[in-house]
Amino acid sequence: METRRSMEVEQVRVEKPVQQRRDEYVVSLNQNPGGGGVVVGVKGNGIFLTWKDMWVTVPDKKGGRPAILQGVTGYVEPGAVLAIMGPSGCGKSTLLDTRAGRFGDNTRRTGEILINGHKQTLAFGTSAYATQDDTLMTTLTVKEAVYYSAELQLPDSMLRSEKRERADITIRDMGLQDSINTRIGGWSSKGLSGGQKRRVSICIEILTRPKLLFLDEPTSGLDSAASYHVMDRIVKLAKQEQRTVVASIHQPSSEVFDLFHNLCLLSSG
Ligand SMILES: Nc1ncnc2c1ncn2[C@@H]1O[C@H](COP(=O)(O)OP(=O)(O)OP(=O)(O)O)[C@@H](O)[C@H]1O
Ligand SMILES: [Mg+2]
Repeated sequence: METRRSMEVEQVRVEKPVQQRRDEYVVSLNQNPGGGGVVVGVKGNGIFLTWKDMWVTVPDKKGGRPAILQGVTGYVEPGAVLAIMGPSGCGKSTLLDTRAGRFGDNTRRTGEILINGHKQTLAFGTSAYATQDDTLMTTLTVKEAVYYSAELQLPDSMLRSEKRERADITIRDMGLQDSINTRIGGWSSKGLSGGQKRRVSICIEILTRPKLLFLDEPTSGLDSAASYHVMDRIVKLAKQEQRTVVASIHQPSSEVFDLFHNLCLLSSG
């Protein structure tokens, strides 16, 4: 395993290093030979997402505005999965939030985010974001939660049976078929495990097969086999249907790491 990794590392190409207090690199794991720098273009009907010189600041108690992200630049293309890695508190969730257009009231952002080379807002249903914290109705079972979401999110042009079929396929893809009738549960009533809840959250977000998918720590709480299963499914979804996926991840196993096409490394400091 060690030998294989070191051979791959030789092929890693640093696309655009930005060295500041927090360093960020986007490295291409040899999936895009001939490409270079920040890519702006259109591939099929997928989404190229690029971000340039992103700065995010928040106010502190002393009246200053420390920066959480400093001059972060990168891109992700259709059919590819970009992994964001770095230590806890380095700004992975902030980077995802910023690109997904989710801002806290107190945050200030500068920099450019382009979709297919243009500044534009995404149409409803084009992107989805599975956040780090699961926000699920604790009283519903897995089946109810996913079926309700399918009813609400999938277009009216789809028949109810088609919506249910999509929901069933997605539940199976996420390996939740055994706990389909289990209540999600919360702090007052135990239900699904932490890892299963994570998979329900992802399941609900990928129901609509969004063109752009943001996943904040999709594998937290999962063992290495379940992490591999979930990420493998997401990578296949990205490849087969030319979806664009950005996922933050903590300590992936070497098998999961091998699934990613591009890597964005953040350092705290
Ligand atoms: N709205 C905010 N106000 C104040 N500080 C913030 C805000 N948002 C983020 N931070 C700070 O910015 C830093 C980065 O937070 P972020 O949640 O992006 O980290 P992370 O890399 O996702 O960490 P983890 O791996 O633990 O989830 C943290 O130190 C956090 O306290
Ligand atoms: Mg986070």
